[in-house]
Amino acid sequence: MTDDPLIALRPWEAPEVTSWGRLPMNAVDRRSGVLPLDGDWRFQLLPAPDAPVGGSWSSAYVPGAWTVQGTDDLPRYTNVRMPFPEYPPHSPAANPTGVYEREVDVPAEWAGRRIVLQVGAAESVLLVHVDGRPVGVSKDSHLAAEFDLTGRVRVGARSVVRLTVIKWSDASHIEDQDQWWHGGITRSVLLYATDPLHLADVTVRASGSGKLRVDCRARDAGGALPEGWYVSGELEGQPLTQDEEFDRFNAEDERVSDFLGEARLRTVVEDVRTWNAETPELYSLTVRLHRADGTVADTSRHRTGFRDVEITGRDLLVNGERIFVRGVNRHDFHPLTGRTVSYDDMRADLITLKRFGFNAIRTSHYPNDPALYDLADELGFYVVDEADIESHDHAHEIADDPRYLHAFVDRVSRMVLRDKNHPSVVIWSLGNESDYGANHDAAAGWVRRHDPTRPIQYEGAAKLDWADPSVASDIACPMYASLEECVAHALSGRQTKPLIWCEYSHAMGNSNGTLADHWAAIESTPGLQGGFIWEFWDHGILQHVNDGRPVGRGGVGLHDNGVAAPGHRWAYGGDFGELLHDGAFIADGVVFPDRTPKPVMFEHREIAAPVRIECFRHEGIVLGNHQHFRGLAWLTGDWELSLADGRTLTSPAELPDLRPGETAAVPLPFELPEEGGEAWLTLRVTTAGDEPWATRGTVVCLPQVRLREAVPQAPVMLKNRSVEVDGDGLLVHPLLTCAPTLSLWRAPTDNDELGGMAPRWRDWGLDALVRKVTDVRQSPGQVTVHAEYACEAGVVRHLQVFTAVEGAIHVAESAELPDELDDVARVGSVFETVAGLDLMEWYGQGPWESYPDRAFGAPVGHHSVPVDELFTPYLRPQESGGRHGVRHFTLSAPDATGLAVVLDEPRQVGVSRYRAADLTGVTHHDELVPRAGCVVHIDAAHRGLGTASCGPDTTASYLVAPGVHRWSWTLRAL
Ligand code: GAL
Ligand code: MG
Repeated sequence: MTDDPLIALRPWEAPEVTSWGRLPMNAVDRRSGVLPLDGDWRFQLLPAPDAPVGGSWSSAYVPGAWTVQGTDDLPRYTNVRMPFPEYPPHSPAANPTGVYEREVDVPAEWAGRRIVLQVGAAESVLLVHVDGRPVGVSKDSHLAAEFDLTGRVRVGARSVVRLTVIKWSDASHIEDQDQWWHGGITRSVLLYATDPLHLADVTVRASGSGKLRVDCRARDAGGALPEGWYVSGELEGQPLTQDEEFDRFNAEDERVSDFLGEARLRTVVEDVRTWNAETPELYSLTVRLHRADGTVADTSRHRTGFRDVEITGRDLLVNGERIFVRGVNRHDFHPLTGRTVSYDDMRADLITLKRFGFNAIRTSHYPNDPALYDLADELGFYVVDEADIESHDHAHEIADDPRYLHAFVDRVSRMVLRDKNHPSVVIWSLGNESDYGANHDAAAGWVRRHDPTRPIQYEGAAKLDWADPSVASDIACPMYASLEECVAHALSGRQTKPLIWCEYSHAMGNSNGTLADHWAAIESTPGLQGGFIWEFWDHGILQHVNDGRPVGRGGVGLHDNGVAAPGHRWAYGGDFGELLHDGAFIADGVVFPDRTPKPVMFEHREIAAPVRIECFRHEGIVLGNHQHFRGLAWLTGDWELSLADGRTLTSPAELPDLRPGETAAVPLPFELPEEGGEAWLTLRVTTAGDEPWATRGTVVCLPQVRLREAVPQAPVMLKNRSVEVDGDGLLVHPLLTCAPTLSLWRAPTDNDELGGMAPRWRDWGLDALVRKVTDVRQSPGQVTVHAEYACEAGVVRHLQVFTAVEGAIHVAESAELPDELDDVARVGSVFETVAGLDLMEWYGQGPWESYPDRAFGAPVGHHSVPVDELFTPYLRPQESGGRHGVRHFTLSAPDATGLAVVLDEPRQVGVSRYRAADLTGVTHHDELVPRAGCVVHIDAAHRGLGTASCGPDTTASYLVAPGVHRWSWTLRAL
């Protein structure tokens, strides 16, 4: 039997207990005058919360998860299912419990002051003791807990603070988010001191009209409020006015309670510079609580943005404008710490997002680190702030379980109390994937009363009926609903709420097919306003390959190219020995674990382009400003004319002064040369000066228009030259180590696997086609080879006609797919080259990776990329590195020898160091052994990528149909 009342209460199995002894959440700024307690703490990991604390201590760093700090309790990944079988509210008997302890020296000058301990975040139950005496309990793993230590810590002397963190609890069942399970104190710990009579909360309302209202509450730790105290405020140095009507500090006012004072300050800012994500104008606001003699007892500093958020009809408006929400879902993630993120990390995340055209973040699926919101205010993002509630595995039971009622209201209300003053927060989210029940309505009711200024969203409620006004969601915020279904809803006449996907375009592996089609529809369909891509991060934890341990804080092994350094790898589910796990489903972000952007980011940047080429008319190029609030003065540009014959002409561009939504024609910057073939004009738009998120000259977008089409050229056959094939009808060529054969297979992407396509392809045997030559015919200058490729689904007839042409071999091919093969990965040729060809140069779309349904905005031009860098190192190796719309390319050695290929029309080309079989044979990037030569795919047709790992597959137009496919190309030595 324990004599510790906090343990005796068994709070880890009591959902009704959300806290004990915890101070109310508030939005008062406590950043100055704090005593940080971050650093190494004494630490021991107990096997269960009620196990006795032993005498032997190691140490653990705070903030941090112990799961990446050398303990035997390692990270685990499960998506929906709980990692233990116990039914809510129970948790397993084996329940790692971290005991953190350290001495704290409270400065003597804090005598007489109220002393508060703040624990930034602890998962999932926190118990606090000071000098062996119980202080409090808290749950809610992603929000801070504060405890009043006045009279509990010794002032001017040393006290021992113990923080006990219990990993599994009733709360774990409502923190069942799709991410790694960790344990520990993942945000900073600190002490601060206030006057006993202190600011208890500050609520700022600043509207787009320039009206500011600041509601302040004061509380006296000791009891009654003394007479004569008051509150003052200033905005950018200008004093605010007291709202006498509301002043409840005055003793004559009978409404004054004796322990709580309230005051309201106001002002109106003339010609206010409103806040929006494009021009995030902030004003500094200071609120002070004064003693009767005028001296300052407490101060809170804020940065305020004046803006309005409202829903009118089915439009979400910011400052009256119907904005597009170009969002992403973001977790607090780091490949070394697992969960703990620094200010610099978050700033780098947001800068990356800004640079790639994002303007919105959903804090999936819990309130993120507080600094994220400051950064979002400052850099300009619309934030959907989401409460820490996901009961995915037991959603239905918990949504209406009264034992969890208080936890729901507690979590939602604490988030709102903390984040209400951030202009960036435009929508509150009640949580994620927790079904829909009375507990949600209770939480929604609290928010509606406390903060009527912002809409609420909750997917679990909205999905009952996107148009139903009675459910707790002001937004129709579907998850992975098909574009077709969303467009149909918008056109149905039934729509009552803005439609903004809370999750769409699942970014697992080589993915995000049809993103541009989504945006074409969003921008042209009233009622559709955007969405949040799932998700920002690939949550690969950096792991030592030799012993399987996480590298942990301060470790090395990070590169900046998406690949873990030698001897390391990005761990995903199962890599820490977990038997129950969901594998690589944790790696589904638009950036790699080291924040290297994946190719989809470049496409997103173009989709979000603020300046676009609308069209090319005789009078010139029509440019449009696609922003909501900003002119074009912050941008500048260069024109680039790219001709198929290899020439690129450039000239500086002058951007017209366009207001949002305006267009104007500018003269064509070049006289189009008569010769040169296909011609493309690109406007390279860059920042004209330094932006907070980009230095001057940073590329913002590359809009493009075709000025002249290609004229097809028929190759001239040379009958006096010969073409050599071997006894199997395979082309013999000095630069090829494997002759061109037919390929219908790609190393399955995550979408191919989880969407069920790859299993079909394997059943059909597309990964192991058996080639049989049926006929070889030679004529002067030409060889015709008929072959059959047998698989389970039938026989594919393949024809190759090799013809000698001037300095080259022309290869004309056709393949006839039986009707059974109604959805294959590709139809095309694959061959391999000699070693030493290290550089690919091409005319076509690029330079980044592109696929048929993810090829928007990759400009057509002359591109040059080392072969090793063409490959995209998706965490689970798969088809990667393709380039769409390639017209011709070379593969060359440093001495400029090599080969050149000219294609009959723009085609999907893949050049890699790996065969498809090399990629499918391994599970992690570090196992791959690059080949010396190049593996080259030229595709007549290549299947789109889609997003079927968790969402819609690609659409019909990107599928590879059965029947006859024809393609041709010429191969020449350089
Ligand atoms: C959603 C969920 C996310 C994540 C995603 C798949 O259903 O809200 O947390 O699991 O699917 O990656
Ligand atoms: Mg989930």
